[in-house]
Amino acid sequence: MTSALQNHFTIVINGATVRLKDVSPTMTLLHYLRQSGRIGTKEGCGDGDCGACTVAIVAQGSDGKPHYQAMNSCLIPLGAVAGREIVTVEGVSRDRLHPVQTAMVTTGGSQCGYCTPGFVMSLFAAYYDRALNDACVEGNLCRCTGYLAIRRAAQEVVENQPDDSDDRFHQHLQTTSADLSEISYNGNDQWFYRPTRLQDVLTLMEQYPDATLIAGGTDLGLEISYHRQHCEVMISLEAVTELKTLENTLEFVEIGAAVPLIHVEETLRGVFPSLDEMLHWFAARQIRTRATIGGNIGTASPIGDLPPVLLSLDAELKLAHSMGDRTIPLSDFFKGYRQTDLQPGEVIVSVKIPKSASTRRLSQAYKIGKRGTDDISIVAAAFVIDLDEDDRILHARLAYGGVAAIPIRAIAVEQMLIGKFWNHETIQHVKPALKQAFTPLTDLRGSADYRSLLVANLFEKFFVEFGEAPIQALEVTA
Ligand SMILES: Cc1cc2nc3c(=O)[nH]c(=O)nc-3n(C[C@H](O)[C@H](O)[C@H](O)COP(=O)(O)OP(=O)(O)OC[C@H]3O[C@@H](n4cnc5c(N)ncnc54)[C@H](O)[C@@H]3O)c2cc1C
Ligand code: FES
Ligand code: FES
Repeated sequence: MTSALQNHFTIVINGATVRLKDVSPTMTLLHYLRQSGRIGTKEGCGDGDCGACTVAIVAQGSDGKPHYQAMNSCLIPLGAVAGREIVTVEGVSRDRLHPVQTAMVTTGGSQCGYCTPGFVMSLFAAYYDRALNDACVEGNLCRCTGYLAIRRAAQEVVENQPDDSDDRFHQHLQTTSADLSEISYNGNDQWFYRPTRLQDVLTLMEQYPDATLIAGGTDLGLEISYHRQHCEVMISLEAVTELKTLENTLEFVEIGAAVPLIHVEETLRGVFPSLDEMLHWFAARQIRTRATIGGNIGTASPIGDLPPVLLSLDAELKLAHSMGDRTIPLSDFFKGYRQTDLQPGEVIVSVKIPKSASTRRLSQAYKIGKRGTDDISIVAAAFVIDLDEDDRILHARLAYGGVAAIPIRAIAVEQMLIGKFWNHETIQHVKPALKQAFTPLTDLRGSADYRSLLVANLFEKFFVEFGEAPIQALEVTA
């Protein structure tokens, strides 16, 4: 690290620079905002589910330009916003209401009003992206069910969106930068580092073997905010150049571990249909703007949604350590419940997904949860089937989440499928084996029997959707 250890850092909040000294870098932004009197930002759930705490942060979009992005302030530790710009609901209007606030008033989009600041901030961020649609508020919950009026408010802004050339936020985005600087902070007996080079991450990990790595913080934020986990040393990966690249060639795609999922979604749309589908159902937009692919793998949750997709696509992981780098198949990474092959001092650098040469590839992903968006999977599944010209199966991958202690492939059934015809008889033949393939648990979300049924039935659904339809050759785009 080139920057000297400091006992203070700054944050720009609503245009004013705030200097924070000796604060805990793991205090949540929400907690700080409310403690400092900015109580327009509300606390609902404290775990990223309701959106009451939404603020906007200036962050780099997938086009490399600065954007306002909605963000759950209850999940974000203060250290992660060091040197960055935040807009809270107190900052959106000056001498008159912001157009999204006016629309909320005129359409009656607020009843008890508890959710309103969060909705306003999500609409505010979407306003500057000209992306006011249902997706921009999918992470906001209204207990009074004012959704219809809120949708009308968004519609009204779309229909009457003024020319924003003299809008101060629009002008600010044209001149500001979202580049992240290096941070070395020590306060409250805690250390927060934000290096910009992979080599510095590895050196820091040698120095602090028990340090906690943080990327988007959407998983870790729960531990910090909800269970009050005390992290003595945190190393943020958000600014590490080597972890932020996204390469799309004719042979493969390589996604840096710290690339936010929203960038993956926007940049790779149309390349892997199953990845597109899963990202669509992954959390809510304001989680996907922060959550990373490395974090989804690093957390090693048995119900993480991307591992089944990546397993089905034969993804590999690049890992780095101060003693050297290595590449392993993702299928060798998960070792047990929340246990991985990651060695002390090792970091996930990127995920590499090969592109198939097959001209008859079928692939899709499915997520079963209690509600459509912003929910955790009961079972997630991703399938890949390559066929020859006679509809015989050449290659099969059936990968699942939520059915075992780790994300897992049904390897025995994959082998049963090779050489068989892709038809109704084959599906019926393997269904009993699929039902028996795993011994899932019963929990609040679903029973073991239900999960076993889903394992088999989702594969049948895949066949019904793709079996008899004319097969499109997968377009390989660079
Ligand atoms: C409201 C809500 C909804 C959610 N919905 C979903 C969902 O639908 N599907 C789903 O799968 N998940 C969901 N999640 C969980 C979470 O958003 C994802 O797991 C996300 O991808 C985590 O990424 P992150 O960058 O925020 O990880 P972080 O929270 O920063 O880190 C998670 C873990 O990974 C480790 N880590 C991070 N990067 C690396 C790296 N490069 N190398 C080694 N270790 C690393 C960290 O040390 C930590 O242990 C949800 C979370 C919330 C709060
Ligand atoms: S308080 Fe509910 S998402 Fe933050
Ligand atoms: S207006 Fe009451 S929670 Fe939305």
